[in-house]
Amino acid sequence: VNVAAARALEGRFQRARKDKELAVLEGFHALKHALRFGAQVELVVAADPAALAQIADDLAPDLHGRLGAGGVAVEQVPAELLSRLAPRVPHTQVLALAARPPFDPERLRRDRNSGAIVLLEDPRDLGNIGAVVRAAAAAGAGGVVTTGTHDPWDAAAIRGATGLHYALPVGRDDAFALDPGERPLLALDPEGELLDPARLPPDAVLAFGTERDGLSDDLLARADARLRLPMRAGVSSLNLATSVAAVLFAWRLAMYRADT
Ligand SMILES: C[S@@+](CC[C@H](N)C(=O)[O-])C[C@H]1O[C@@H](n2cnc3c(N)ncnc32)[C@H](O)[C@@H]1O
Repeated sequence: VNVAAARALEGRFQRARKDKELAVLEGFHALKHALRFGAQVELVVAADPAALAQIADDLAPDLHGRLGAGGVAVEQVPAELLSRLAPRVPHTQVLALAARPPFDPERLRRDRNSGAIVLLEDPRDLGNIGAVVRAAAAAGAGGVVTTGTHDPWDAAAIRGATGLHYALPVGRDDAFALDPGERPLLALDPEGELLDPARLPPDAVLAFGTERDGLSDDLLARADARLRLPMRAGVSSLNLATSVAAVLFAWRLAMYRADT
């Protein structure tokens, strides 16, 4: 890679990090899930394309022919250049750029058969956002909506979610919290009534509060119910992503029990 080409690549990644239509994928697992769930991958750069092909064969044989020969081309770049394209070079030494799918909150309101929606009110920690998206994808939730200033498609959140943003709708929309349509709005709050997973409506919007202060008074006032996960005395609250995972998997286990 000559100096001009290296500069062009740096510029492309810098612009992509600010572009609301693009996603920066850091590491093989993010790239794997993006490809598996239908992302339009525009560019893949790796320090060692042969090693990447081996990782792909070992960990994701279902992607055979989708990456490298017969699929998305993998551009080889020196490891030193890779370290200028990402704040922390992933262990698998691969980065990629992909298009973000369009996010349609109106469809989430309307399509009530798509599963429960996780609503994060003003989350501050990108690692938490990523962990929530990962748990929501695994649990079969219908989507993740955030409010506030942080972009849920930030590269750090995508890395935390191992690219599972492509497995379900994920987006930021302040209006969704104010109007979830006909879906029941349930506030998850350590001060609420005891949650009974078997009684969670399958089309609920499950609202979780910001890391430090919890849910806003406004959202609590509009919620149809306020529910808590029981905790041992003396513990104030669970971490945001942990509480989302606990609620979603209680819901999923209750659905399994009801089906069998
Ligand atoms: C770190 S907690 C916020 C703590 C905040 N001081 C409070 O009391 O709400 C972040 C979010 O996780 C959820 N959460 C944490 N522990 C919970 C519990 N035991 N039951 C229900 N939700 C919980 C709530 O949605 C909360 O707003």
